[in-house]
Amino acid sequence: MDKVRITIDGIPAEVPANYTVLQAAKYAKIEIPTLCYLEEINEIGACRLCVVEIKGVRNLQASCVYPVSDGMEIYTNTPRVREARRSNLELILSAHDRSCLTCVRSGNCELQDLSRKSGIDEIRFMGENIKYQKDESSPSIVRDPNKCVLCRRCVATCNNVQNVFAIGMVNRGFKTIVAPSFGRGLNESPCISCGQCIEACPVGAIYEKDHTKIVYDALLDEKKYVVVQTAPAVRVA
Ligand code: FES
Repeated sequence: MDKVRITIDGIPAEVPANYTVLQAAKYAKIEIPTLCYLEEINEIGACRLCVVEIKGVRNLQASCVYPVSDGMEIYTNTPRVREARRSNLELILSAHDRSCLTCVRSGNCELQDLSRKSGIDEIRFMGENIKYQKDESSPSIVRDPNKCVLCRRCVATCNNVQNVFAIGMVNRGFKTIVAPSFGRGLNESPCISCGQCIEACPVGAIYEKDHTKIVYDALLDEKKYVVVQTAPAVRVA
């Protein structure tokens, strides 16, 4: 395989010519944050958290989609890079429902992790946010557009890996969400409840339905009647 010589943060490396900058950084054991990137499944350069500086190139480039070339000089941790990543992260957070305390992914959320690593404790950007209804129509999966970061990892997994085509990007601009087409719920889509979209989601936008909670909610609601079967009492002593 053809190789190219590059330097990354001053470290010389020889990498395959078909590598992206992100792959080259991994090869050189240099960590670059990512969010929308899912290896070989979703490589679309959407979130811009992986931006780097390349000598001779005016704008910052998304390392997950930018190909290496011979003699390239890459800088992954300059003040300009750090500030751009932080701003992009704050913009994503500004449109994200940050009710982390009750989120199923709290403690296992890539967005939370990236925010912690970037030292973000307040968000400079505040805009109007649309409040969406959760889609709880599926027997096994809940879709919460308020938590979605539009990374499209679930869409790529559902469509390109599983070939199910249950979800896609709907609407345009600020109103873009991930959903089944024509305003339908997951129960009316071709969804087969494989759960691969849950695996792909970096946040709590798609998660497994908690059936324990459903029974509890029903028990608390006087209008509903639930038959709870218990084991026969056993006399001790
Ligand atoms: Fe590269 Fe999202 S990880 S743009």
